[in-house]
Amino acid sequence: MFLEAGLLTRRSVRQFEPGRKIPQQDIDDILKIAMYAPSGCNRQPWEFVVVTDDEIKNRIVEIHPHAGFLKDASAAIIVCGDINKQCDEGFWVVDTSAAIQNLLLACHGRGLGACWCAVYPYEDRMKQFQELLGLPENVKPNALVVVGYPVKVPAQPKDRFDGGKVHFNKW
Ligand SMILES: Cc1cc2nc3c(=O)[nH]c(=O)nc-3n(C[C@H](O)[C@H](O)[C@H](O)COP(=O)(O)O)c2cc1C
Repeated sequence: MFLEAGLLTRRSVRQFEPGRKIPQQDIDDILKIAMYAPSGCNRQPWEFVVVTDDEIKNRIVEIHPHAGFLKDASAAIIVCGDINKQCDEGFWVVDTSAAIQNLLLACHGRGLGACWCAVYPYEDRMKQFQELLGLPENVKPNALVVVGYPVKVPAQPKDRFDGGKVHFNKW
């Protein structure tokens, strides 16, 4: 089964084949997998804005200080949460973060590269995405996920398991 190997080999990809577009079916498939994430009270408060338009991508690169590599990527997926649908205050971030991780793994599973780029919790950045994408007031952007065909995947890290971070029964 893909799961364990996929979890261990996923990396944040920041170099993409310029001009190579992801077929719509793949976009639909990765979004479906994102929507299978767990969520508080099963409210599924996520919303996704898929940006493939070059002008809007360029604007995103202007407003996000650490996402210049979007220019060569096929799509930007802005994962948002509807605060009116969340189970309780603050759940929108947690729920949409679970969806983002699913999205990253779905990309990895089909040979696409992806990188989670923070929008939340930077209020200025959130406001700029809100305006650029015309999000309703109740829909908040959590992250920009850059997706494309990888040119270079970062080297695998050495073992990240750290037994010192594990506490049995009590700290
Ligand atoms: C909340 C969050 C915000 C991140 N923001 C950015 C970002 O703005 N730009 C970027 O290039 N990578 C960003 N990353 C990716 C991290 O740098 C990356 O996950 C980390 O270096 C570990 O590498 P790995 O994903 O390959 O395991 C972000 C990751 C998370 C979880």
